[in-house]
Amino acid sequence: MKIEEIQRIKDEALRELRALRSLSDLENFKVKFLGKKGSITQALREIKGLPLEERKKTGAELNQLRQYLEDELESKKRELLFLEEDKPLDIDITLPGRRPLYGGVHPLAKVIDELCEVFTPLGFEVVTGPEIESEYYNFTALNIPEWHPARDMQATFYLQSGALLRTHTSPIQIRAMLARKPPLRIIAPGKVYRCDADVRHSPMFHQVEGLMVDREVSFSDLKGVLSYFAREVFGEGTRLRFRPSYFPFTEPSLEMDIGCVICGGEGCRVCSNTGWIEILGAGMVHPEVLRAVNYDPEQWQGFAFGLGVERIAMLKYGIDDIRLFFENHLYFLESFK
Ligand code: DAH
Repeated sequence: MKIEEIQRIKDEALRELRALRSLSDLENFKVKFLGKKGSITQALREIKGLPLEERKKTGAELNQLRQYLEDELESKKRELLFLEEDKPLDIDITLPGRRPLYGGVHPLAKVIDELCEVFTPLGFEVVTGPEIESEYYNFTALNIPEWHPARDMQATFYLQSGALLRTHTSPIQIRAMLARKPPLRIIAPGKVYRCDADVRHSPMFHQVEGLMVDREVSFSDLKGVLSYFAREVFGEGTRLRFRPSYFPFTEPSLEMDIGCVICGGEGCRVCSNTGWIEILGAGMVHPEVLRAVNYDPEQWQGFAFGLGVERIAMLKYGIDDIRLFFENHLYFLESFK
């Protein structure tokens, strides 16, 4: 190797050192000049053939150069590492962030919670019962024998086993009375099923059942509790009316209507143009029902009521189609957050 050749390598290395811009440039540089087959390493190997004086001089120069390059590379590397850390990430920081999706409580669940909260301070305990019921609890024990036309009032879904989907929450009255001793006060929310579907009826809907049994309970207690409930849920000035009615499990029986808030009493499809909406059935517990659970009707009396949750939610929120509760469109559900 000639002296000029070595000079050329030195110049090239110094020039390329100044041009290093990235860590990969640096790696390539190392390989090219200082690696096993790098030109400086090569040159150091080849100076053996030079005359002694030249060999000493050139060897010292090359070693010096190698040391210089190694030091330079080390500081260059630190510099580049620092710069790379600072390099902007490959993302667009002006893009808007994604908002987290928050869930909400379904309007029917809200109403059920609210109804329970109205009654629990009055001493009513929240209980539940099964949705698949026997004819006995759903009908017979509630004074609806097999031949009774009231069995047709509620279009029942029967299961192959002979069991049925409860048509109302009233069977919970029977279960609660059997499980407890009087006096008692219970409130029982739950799903009920009837073969029925239009703007006001859904094959699955919700009721809240109430029952109070004590030694001296009167029809005025019932009216008092129901009026209190209506004012708590719909506000002080709510219009309500009681109508005589018939249920096999109560005597006497009544239905309570609320002035239709959808049309303000003018008449609309929700109230069938009557200006009133029935929201519950109620009455004094029939002596036959008390006998069915071995309560002595001479000692114990009670009142019971069954509220339609969807009806109440429709009135509270001004919704004119019951099916909206079950279609679960986000725009509908989100309006209750
Ligand atoms: N179970 C009745 C229905 O679904 C509602 C009802 C009426 C419940 C009178 C009662 C009651 O507890 O006393 O139509």
